[in-house]
Amino acid sequence: PSILVINGPNLNLLGTREPDVYGTATLDDVVRLASDTARERGCAVRAVQSNHEGGIIDAIHAARTTTDGIVINAGAYTHTSIAIRDALAGVGLPVVEVHISNVHRREPFRHTSYISGVADAVIVGAGIDGYRLAVDHLAGRLTAAAP
Ligand code: DQA
Repeated sequence: PSILVINGPNLNLLGTREPDVYGTATLDDVVRLASDTARERGCAVRAVQSNHEGGIIDAIHAARTTTDGIVINAGAYTHTSIAIRDALAGVGLPVVEVHISNVHRREPFRHTSYISGVADAVIVGAGIDGYRLAVDHLAGRLTAAAP
């Protein structure tokens, strides 16, 4: 099975961006962690990052025929994008939502997620380990479902 890991806006800056909030690991570190975790579970990871809402939506649409499940950290679009939510609902793949920081301990505008209502699982506040947990969970679901 194959898992698409989608990172949204500003996550390309991981490692240097607000390290007190997001830590010092880079996006490459995140992708390596996700890939290693998937491989241990007999799955493959493809990773995309986009700073553009439409780019994320296009990646979700493409996943419909190329991917078995999606891990997504939509960054700030989490709190604004009905379009990304609709794209996830539209392709109907299993979805795990990840946030590096505990959004519920932060500003009120981060407490609402348009993604959570279409996600099968949500992992927040575990740092980049959240990606490992998300991939591990999704891989477990996908390999259990395989014939
Ligand atoms: C984030 C939380 C969002 O509120 C923020 O806009 C991000 C990163 C996280 O991973 O903690 O860009 O999704």
